[in-house]
Amino acid sequence: MSFTLNVNGTTHAVDVDGDTPLLWVLRDVIGLTGTKFGCGIAMCGACTVHLDGMAVRACVTPVETVGAAAVTTIEAIGATDEGARVQKAWLDEEVVQCGYCQSGQIMSAAALLAVNPSPTDADIDAVMAGNICRCGTYPRIRAAIKQAATELAGGEGR
Ligand code: FES
Ligand code: FES
Repeated sequence: MSFTLNVNGTTHAVDVDGDTPLLWVLRDVIGLTGTKFGCGIAMCGACTVHLDGMAVRACVTPVETVGAAAVTTIEAIGATDEGARVQKAWLDEEVVQCGYCQSGQIMSAAALLAVNPSPTDADIDAVMAGNICRCGTYPRIRAAIKQAATELAGGEGR
């Protein structure tokens, strides 16, 4: 079947089965490989993208359910205010170890800050619990989210 997707502000016509996970459409059809495959069963968060600003697991999102929703991936999250601050904070805190989980982590963090600009540790832990990091970068992730929140609140330069 043919589907028209709005991904990172660009319209893509894709011809795939309707039950194809959005993750594979993004990676294999459109060629956006920043979104990663981890578990395939919504348990690790590596495949996190935004649908109309909400974090979703692309591995369990059939493409036929996306409709006209705006899909945002790690390749474009830096164009949003929250995404840009999160990415800067990630670099400042040197969060990344192997890197595999990190695009999903950043997508979840940006979605969190968009709805909760000053999250507590508990808020951060609750939202980020769905993003697994086998390298154990959690303390730096928490610190980076706090830094991004502080910068967003203070309107400091990107
Ligand atoms: S690959 Fe989607 S949550 Fe793990
Ligand atoms: S940085 Fe290696 S899995 Fe998270």
